[in-house]
Amino acid sequence: MKGKDFLWLADLESEEIGQMVRKARAMKDGATPKVMGGKVAALLFEKPSLRTRVSFEVGVKQMGGDCIYLSQSDVGLGTREPAEDVARVLDRLVDVIIARVFSHRSLEILAEYSTVPVVNALSDLAHPCQAVGDLLSMNERKGDLAGLNVAYVGDGNNIASSLAIGCASVGANFTVASPPAYKVPDVAWRVAERRAAEMETRLEWTEAPEAAVEGADVVYTDVWISMGDEHEADERRRIFTKYRVDGRLMERADGGAVFMHDMPAHRGEEVSEEMLDHPQSIVFHQAENRLHAQKAILAELLA
Ligand code: NVA
Repeated sequence: MKGKDFLWLADLESEEIGQMVRKARAMKDGATPKVMGGKVAALLFEKPSLRTRVSFEVGVKQMGGDCIYLSQSDVGLGTREPAEDVARVLDRLVDVIIARVFSHRSLEILAEYSTVPVVNALSDLAHPCQAVGDLLSMNERKGDLAGLNVAYVGDGNNIASSLAIGCASVGANFTVASPPAYKVPDVAWRVAERRAAEMETRLEWTEAPEAAVEGADVVYTDVWISMGDEHEADERRRIFTKYRVDGRLMERADGGAVFMHDMPAHRGEEVSEEMLDHPQSIVFHQAENRLHAQKAILAELLA
């Protein structure tokens, strides 16, 4: 992967995703290689961030490098300056561009117009760094990923798309429960379907959260209103009401199931008040694993 971009999980072959998870685990258990010594990462963020920003900044520093954080008000990607020009300037000055954007297309332009690796730190289509961290969390808590039953309840958004491809690539079964109009977009679902067929795993959609969660090893949810969807907030709150994960829904899962959420979480919306502190919740563990996953990704791209 050296020198390549990491825009979504489809940029990696199925076996490379498994290798990345193993590398993340090794990164967590062992010494951090100083592969970013003397290197600088630009963190170009159009949207707010806690976990992604902090874990990237900490990871880059642990690997011997430095970061420059550029908010939308600093750069004005596509407004103050076209993404093409931003890419060509950063290309001359930094060693990697880590970008969080509204439109996935902006990432493609950054990648097209720069020679340094571009890493997706969340777009409307995908959140691949989150998915690598999540697979690490599932592997740590539930063992072998092959054959694991993962249920995702809620919006077929960037998180669901990335998990669909990620789970299928490592041989985990993946079921998403969403309203019919909020399925995982075709572009991601088709990739996940191909990979699920290769790995002989199940990839399913259902409208019913109860059906998705039945006997699952992992129950995962994410916000109903992603960054950029705020104008649809009222409508979404109405449509998604039955997609809330609470203790009762969790009881339908396997007794040893874990509950996951990429956060930020909205208590009383996609999760009930108690869910984050539920004995089966691993959400803070998941947040920590972002660091190890991203160090593995940067090591692959920059070593
Ligand atoms: N689906 C959410 C994920 C936040 C980490 C969003 O895009 O806002």
